[in-house]
Amino acid sequence: MRIDIITVLPELLKSPFEASILKRAIDKGLVEVHLHNLRDYTDNSYNQVDDYQFGGGAGMVMMIEPIDKCISELKSQRNYDEVIYMTPDGSTLNQRMANSLSLLENIIVLCGHYKGVDQRVRDMFITKEISIGDYVLSGGELGAAVLCDTVIRLLPGVLNDETSALTDSFQDGLLAPPVYTRPAEYKGVKVPEILLSGNFGKIEEWREEKALEQTQKLRPDLLQ
Ligand code: ADE
Repeated sequence: MRIDIITVLPELLKSPFEASILKRAIDKGLVEVHLHNLRDYTDNSYNQVDDYQFGGGAGMVMMIEPIDKCISELKSQRNYDEVIYMTPDGSTLNQRMANSLSLLENIIVLCGHYKGVDQRVRDMFITKEISIGDYVLSGGELGAAVLCDTVIRLLPGVLNDETSALTDSFQDGLLAPPVYTRPAEYKGVKVPEILLSGNFGKIEEWREEKALEQTQKLRPDLLQ
């Protein structure tokens, strides 16, 4: 998979890809992530990417021209499955969306700033608008980092234990069951007996039961 991220703040997006699982996925060649500084696609002397909005009103709007130049250059090099715009107006990201995005070959992710982008960018280039939640960030970069993290960890070979993404919370529509490690007893609090029994059939049943119980208690909306 290849992800091209268009941003006015590439430095904000560097570190998530320089550590841990995402870095390993890139080093192993399982994903390519390219950051494009929108200011490199301006031709005014101030490298200006935003301007006042027509009709008046507070807040600047990102101009179409540099975005068009950047997207068009990328599209002249390869085909893209989706051109995604990170915005609080978008569909809220969930595991189902992450799963389907992880099957794609090439995607562009555009990070918004200020009051957002000129509407014509959305009309002419954007195929999907994604929000990471009902709150407003100062830009789309942190949203793009969240999106990339959740998608990249699903790519085959990225996680060490192939099954561990499959047992994540949400992967089967339920929250994950509780997990424990050593010691078996800590300050008098014991690990559930069943987990020490070695009876894997019973352990699996217990986990399914707990996943359902946990979901009913914490996120009953997931069961509706
Ligand atoms: N940009 C600003 N707020 C955002 C959000 N909640 N999700 C994605 N991108 C955003």
